Amino acid sequence: YGNHALVVVANRLPAYRSEGSWSPSPGGLVSAVAPMVRESHGAWIGWGGTSEEEFEPFEFDGMSLVPVALGAEEHERYYEGFSNATLWPLYHDLVVPPQFHRSWWQTYRSTNARFAQAAVDSAAPGATVWIHDFHLQLVPEMIRAQRPDVRIGFFNHIPFPSETIFAQLPWRDSILRGLLGADVIGFQLASDVKNFRSAVSRYLDIDSGRLSNTVHAYPISIDTAAIHEVAEAEETQELARQMRVELGDPRTLIVGIDRLDYTKGILHRLRAYQELLEDGVLDPQDTTFVQVAEPSREGVESYQDLRDDVEQLVGNINGSFGALDGAAVHYFHHSYSFESTVALYLAADVLLVTSLRDGMNLVAKEYVAARHNNGTLVLSEFAGAAAELHDALLVNPHDIAGLKDAIRLGVEMPAAEAGKRMASMADVVERHDIHRWARTFLADLQPTAPTRELRT
Ligand code: G6P
Repeated sequence: YGNHALVVVANRLPAYRSEGSWSPSPGGLVSAVAPMVRESHGAWIGWGGTSEEEFEPFEFDGMSLVPVALGAEEHERYYEGFSNATLWPLYHDLVVPPQFHRSWWQTYRSTNARFAQAAVDSAAPGATVWIHDFHLQLVPEMIRAQRPDVRIGFFNHIPFPSETIFAQLPWRDSILRGLLGADVIGFQLASDVKNFRSAVSRYLDIDSGRLSNTVHAYPISIDTAAIHEVAEAEETQELARQMRVELGDPRTLIVGIDRLDYTKGILHRLRAYQELLEDGVLDPQDTTFVQVAEPSREGVESYQDLRDDVEQLVGNINGSFGALDGAAVHYFHHSYSFESTVALYLAADVLLVTSLRDGMNLVAKEYVAARHNNGTLVLSEFAGAAAELHDALLVNPHDIAGLKDAIRLGVEMPAAEAGKRMASMADVVERHDIHRWARTFLADLQPTAPTRELRT
């Protein structure tokens, strides 16, 4: 047995390896969970992001990190293949066709077994083990088989698909059994919980009533205080002003910030913007669109295809509407620092989140926290965040006419109404931040946790 009272298992470590050393990974999950790992002398098991080299566990930022190196074949079959070309599209309602390969599945199983073994070796007697996301759905059952003494929680960060879509997965029963090894299984939304329960009763013939104490929705959130701090800093505000100046001081600045992923609906929003320019509703002389598309999963073909399509469409729009003194779309295919991202939130007049399917979408919540009482948000009804951010301009991104109307409304909304809507949304992200999310999940995972029905 190991000696860690809390063990987090995620595909990625809270640090990544680059140019020979480890640097802390940014992000809300790390900022919420890392302090808990530190306090309980915990361990975090995960992949370091790039290197195939094996590393021994090491201390980092008050935590024990246990790197799981992915060999070339594991990287290709477990990460790029089964995780990102089978499960990712399947769980995001088939935005692209999922690929089913038995060799990928075998490697997914064996790689999950390696993560599980690392957890088994790290966990103290009676420890709490918290497993994250779709890459590791077999890990709960694998740990359970060796360590009946530990408490096991699993949280899925992405949607869980409807029973009819999940039906396509040749290994659906094994995935469900893998997850059911956990004492608490968490999803983003009530609809994900419902989908999971119906899959379990359909494919495992287990009465879903038996799951009522185990499976719940825990909508994830952001580190609201950290966003406030950066948004209120004078340097960030200055950077935001400077960004607008550099963009030629447009009357209207529309912004999108996403990983370059086909689930985000980037092409849909560009098409809507293009038509608004064509129709003369928006004037390219005084309107600018900034799209930040952070490189992601570049080894996967559908991501390469998307990049080509986005770049072609950006080129078309600029070809038609760009001028010597300014592009109609400024497109950046690189990641931005946290500070620059927040500055861009502050610089925007309208932020577009047009996901075709999204577990939550934290960009929407971060924007709301940064803005507080001004700016407008166009938000897809297919992003989990729409279940909480009712005062956004909610859209169906497939409906280009509706999307155009919403962008126009966002651009033209009177400041008083925009302020009122933003303030009510800011209230939501202030009351439910990521710290509360993490505490709630871990509290439910304690053996003495009252059942959900009693607690709420
Ligand atoms: C989604 C997933 C995360 C993942 C992230 C970035 O948000 O839910 O688990 O870490 O995308 O993707 P990547 O493949 O780079 O880890």
